[in-house]
Amino acid sequence: MVLENDLLLRVARGEKTERTPVWLMRQAGRILPEYRAVRERLSGFVELVQTPELAAAVTIQPVDILEVDAAIIFSDILVIPEAMGLAYEMAEKKGPFFPETIKTEEQAERLRTVVPEEDLAYVIEAIKITKKELNGRVPLIGFAGAPWTIFCYMVEGQGSKTFSKARAMLYKNPDLAIRLLNKITESTVRYLKAQIKAGADLVQLFDSWAGILPPDLYQQFSLTFIEKVCQAIDEVPFTVFAKGAYFARKAIGKLPCQTVGLDWNMDIAESRELVGMDKTLQGNLDPCVLYGSYDQIKKATQNMLDQFGPYRHIANLGHGVYPDTDPDKVRCFIDTVKTHSF
Ligand code: CP3
Repeated sequence: MVLENDLLLRVARGEKTERTPVWLMRQAGRILPEYRAVRERLSGFVELVQTPELAAAVTIQPVDILEVDAAIIFSDILVIPEAMGLAYEMAEKKGPFFPETIKTEEQAERLRTVVPEEDLAYVIEAIKITKKELNGRVPLIGFAGAPWTIFCYMVEGQGSKTFSKARAMLYKNPDLAIRLLNKITESTVRYLKAQIKAGADLVQLFDSWAGILPPDLYQQFSLTFIEKVCQAIDEVPFTVFAKGAYFARKAIGKLPCQTVGLDWNMDIAESRELVGMDKTLQGNLDPCVLYGSYDQIKKATQNMLDQFGPYRHIANLGHGVYPDTDPDKVRCFIDTVKTHSF
């Protein structure tokens, strides 16, 4: 299907466009009262993720309400551990929790390599419904967690400031770590390919816990596997967002991906220098700017746009939008991007 608005895809491919495209990480979610209304009718987050019609509906909400230039499928990175055999719970205001974690070779051996059309049929169905209902208005972004970030949850069992159990395994049992990372990588490749087949126009890998590793371990236990995923996906543009991996920007610039996400700690000019000229950059406004006044939001957004320049930039925040952000402030950010003149 021909897209009415394909700014995101053209910029990801390196083409010059009439303006900078804009979307927000976590745009489908608690910032919108319309999302909370859907969510209230259900037992919880997991039920919403697993109900394709409703997942599709909340995916499209930010396109209708905020007029972003892309939709991102409403799901979670944790559907992969779940499909591999480690179920999770999402405790309100506390985040994910895995009753079982991976400690031994036997446990890792028992994990399935996912068959997305069976184990993740609900996501595939949600993508198909979303594509139909979007009817070509904007591209649909598919996503998965980077193998290292998924490994963190499978070993640690919950969110953590340090993920010291996950990091400890890299020293205590690197062979087990690598076996588990390979298994996650294979499942992730299959999953992203199935998302693309169902209609995803671009895919993004979230390495949310990139920043907790020393550079040598990051290369060995994360980038190696991200590279395998990038190499396997050549159907659509590919974005790598490695939060906190400022020390790895040069290496990330050499990955076979089209777009590199920056978090708000990363200096824009320095990142362009390190990543190189043949990648599109995505980001990177501090999400807390959206707690400021309209005037502050406009100035900070304009300043960011001028630093990135008119080409090879997809405007976004440096991480997901915080749930208590006023949607009118989000709209101010979006409108500022759309009306900016360089
Ligand atoms: O709009 C979008 O960006 C699409 C939806 C999306 C969600 N999770 C929905 C969600 C995406 C892309 C994710 C990715 C995700 N999930 C990441 C990577 C990005 C990042 O933030 O670093 C991570 C680490 C997770 C794991 C996860 N899911 C955590 C730690 C939490 C709890 C924290 C929180 O925000 O509550 C979640 C829950 C979650 N995922 C919610 C949403 C909308 C909130 C739950 C709810 O609405 O009840």
